[in-house]
Amino acid sequence: MAESPNEALRTLYSAEMIAARVAELGQQISAAYTGRPPIVVSILKGSFVFAADLVRALALPLRIEFLGVQSYGSGTVSTGAVQITQDLTHPVEGQDILIVEDIVDTGLTLAYILSLIRARGARSVKVCALLDKPSRRRVEVPVDYVGFTIGDVFVVGYGLDCAELYRNVPALCELLQPPAP
Ligand code: IMP
Ligand code: MG
Repeated sequence: MAESPNEALRTLYSAEMIAARVAELGQQISAAYTGRPPIVVSILKGSFVFAADLVRALALPLRIEFLGVQSYGSGTVSTGAVQITQDLTHPVEGQDILIVEDIVDTGLTLAYILSLIRARGARSVKVCALLDKPSRRRVEVPVDYVGFTIGDVFVVGYGLDCAELYRNVPALCELLQPPAP
């Protein structure tokens, strides 16, 4: 396993392990969407690194949209409230939508996003999440493609943050110690 870049972090998945898994997901999703390319909706901010790598692993003529949501305060505990911070720039009505999310934890954020996209009349909606924490689920949500299934640990790096820090760490790491305020 790769060395952690910081003593507050313990590497769970190195950049190489992530790249290998993203390539597999890319093949699987490309095969599933052959002939009907989706609109990829990258959920900001957390999925921006994953989405950038994943779309380059998709051999499809796709379009990319960004949806900004905020579901947490600055710490590591869910408030349960979801707020749209940046909306899509094109209608999704009649389109096949692939939501790209960083992590599904309680499922509250994804449940909100799914109801929004469905209410706007998408033809189909599927979800690709880099990480899944099934033990923390509070609402049932469908997750069609998962990078890695993890236990109840707080993860940062590869786009994921704690209080907006660590998004630029190339590996996926367990946060052993929250950053000083
Ligand atoms: P949920 O609504 O509880 O499923 O939380 C989803 C959102 O919470 C994700 O999109 C992340 O932004 C954030 N989140 C949940 N767990 C973690 C974690 O372990 N590290 C970083 N962010 C997390
Ligand atoms: Mg976050």
